[in-house]
Amino acid sequence: MKDITRMKTSLSKEIESLLNDQVKMEGNSSSIYLAMAAYCDQLGFENSSEFFFTQADEERQHMLKIFKYISDAGGTPISPEITEVPQEFGSFKGVFESALGQEIAVTNAINIILSAAYKEGDHATANFLQWFVREQQEEEFTARKRVELFDIIGEDGIGRYMIDQKIPEITPPEAEADVNV
Ligand code: FEO
Repeated sequence: MKDITRMKTSLSKEIESLLNDQVKMEGNSSSIYLAMAAYCDQLGFENSSEFFFTQADEERQHMLKIFKYISDAGGTPISPEITEVPQEFGSFKGVFESALGQEIAVTNAINIILSAAYKEGDHATANFLQWFVREQQEEEFTARKRVELFDIIGEDGIGRYMIDQKIPEITPPEAEADVNV
């Protein structure tokens, strides 16, 4: 017989727990991006700082999206405790490498939840997560492009300044952007 507490929600315990882990991960990403914004600002790279401020906001929206999904499905979303946010990223390039690593980790986490949802036949959650699959494709693509700027332009002379100028010009491929409208 179905656990009476589970009759209030369409989510299994495992999916609810994985989604809550993701709430925390997105919240954590938001805080790390905020720290990256401050780090770039301290180095004097204003465009990069602005980019990470915006990115911090986006990640918070991702967190809220999943939080609300759990709630709407009758589950119990958990407001995450965010601790041990790094404040130091080694170098200007290091901050973008960390950002790429973070996006890859998020993609992997989304894929794990999606696989679990398919395994359980939870099509509502699988359907909900499709947005995140496309979002991560986009975010990984642009994060890689930002790291590549360091090799293309080089860091000598005014290289870092030029990289900072180029950061706002990195956008997702058009086809991908259309999918996400
Ligand atoms: Fe919401 Fe880019 O992770």
